[in-house]
Amino acid sequence: MIPEKSRIAAAFERQAAAYDSVAAIQRQAARHLARRIVARLPAPPRRILEIGCGTGLLSAELAAAYPQATLLLTDISPAMLDQARARLGEKAEYRLMDGEHPEGLTGGFDLIASSLAMQWFSDLPGALARLGRLLAPGGWLCFATLGAGSFAEWRAAHEALGLPCGLHDYPRAEAFPWPPEIPGRIEAETLVEHHASGRAFARALKTLGAGAPAFGHRPLPAGAFRRVLAALEGEFHATYHVLYGESCRCGPM
Ligand SMILES: C[S@@+](CC[C@H](N)C(=O)[O-])C[C@H]1O[C@@H](n2cnc3c(N)ncnc32)[C@H](O)[C@@H]1O
Repeated sequence: MIPEKSRIAAAFERQAAAYDSVAAIQRQAARHLARRIVARLPAPPRRILEIGCGTGLLSAELAAAYPQATLLLTDISPAMLDQARARLGEKAEYRLMDGEHPEGLTGGFDLIASSLAMQWFSDLPGALARLGRLLAPGGWLCFATLGAGSFAEWRAAHEALGLPCGLHDYPRAEAFPWPPEIPGRIEAETLVEHHASGRAFARALKTLGAGAPAFGHRPLPAGAFRRVLAALEGEFHATYHVLYGESCRCGPM
């Protein structure tokens, strides 16, 4: 595993037990994604694969919507999988896996779903193409991921101080990097989270396990980070631009 990815996995691993305590937006996005899936799929899926299941927020929605389906939950973090297992028990199977490289799976899934995990991928188009090949004919790939403009307030504070920002570069809805093998459509939704300060936002991100910086970015030195926090005293709004993607293996691939 490349070092950046090990850092991402380690951050989620450390925070798995605390994740749910700060995952209000993630819970909301999972619920909205599940609703979209139920509205979109023409028939209940029989085999479901979930990528980056975390503690099982989307998984629980899918298990409730499709009680007859077999559910394979995967994540890059063993501790996250343990949390999902505690939530869903025998309603699902569990597998430690890098969702970008879904190797060793037989394919034939009627639904591949993922909520707020793909923003951690290093090669999103390549990953989507690989996942698309695991769909059964007529199967659907449905996901939520972060789009451009997410956490713009945090980025702006860094820019104002002339400091590099460790946020990842998120794709724009209008220029989403669908690979040619699996074109799809995107709908965007804006969700806003209120924090007492920039420091409280940074703490919440860390508690989620989502504090790992973008590929190639080094964390700011402590003094520089303190300057960012000092500029963000008082109420802080964190904007999430959630992109909901859906694609069907309806034609030849
Ligand atoms: C923000 S959490 C979202 C978890 C869950 N889907 C939810 O909606 O609450 C991101 C999850 O993606 C996992 N993750 C990050 N990169 C991954 C990768 N390359 N493959 C599989 N899982 C990954 C993390 O371990 C973490 O559990």
